[in-house]
Amino acid sequence: MSNMRTINFTLNGQEVSADIEPHRNLVELLQRFDLFGARESCGQGLCGCCTVLVDGKAVSGCLYFAVWVDGKSVTTVESLDAEGVLSIVQQAFIECGAFQCGFCTPGFVLMVHQLLKEHPSPSDDDIRHYLSGNLCRCAAYPEIIEAVKVAARRA
Ligand code: FES
Ligand code: FES
Repeated sequence: MSNMRTINFTLNGQEVSADIEPHRNLVELLQRFDLFGARESCGQGLCGCCTVLVDGKAVSGCLYFAVWVDGKSVTTVESLDAEGVLSIVQQAFIECGAFQCGFCTPGFVLMVHQLLKEHPSPSDDDIRHYLSGNLCRCAAYPEIIEAVKVAARRA
């Protein structure tokens, strides 16, 4: 007997549906749609590499069951350059060299977009507090903070 569940949700503005096993997480669901920006690293809700927005709120895709998005709106980092043009935040990350290996970058970028919505002119403390759930193992933090400030000036 199949234990697949059918779920319907909005993915980056498009109505979609999927058949998925109840134990799969949101990162695995997104991979089925060829979306690999949210990636699993720690698998414990500690690093932010798997950050996805569900109904506008950041969740850890590694800990969030895929079936929970049924009826909800999911936004991934891929939505930010949907027209083939980098967002202000993405451009600032590149210009400031705010990454080394880049593994953490999609999670940071998505969170910075949220940060600037809530704090258009963030202080250093605002930035550190808001991004405290995102870890960069390459320790590119000074450049990340600079990128946030550059993006904030242009937003
Ligand atoms: S992989 Fe989800 S928080 Fe680290
Ligand atoms: S750039 Fe390597 S983990 Fe952040």
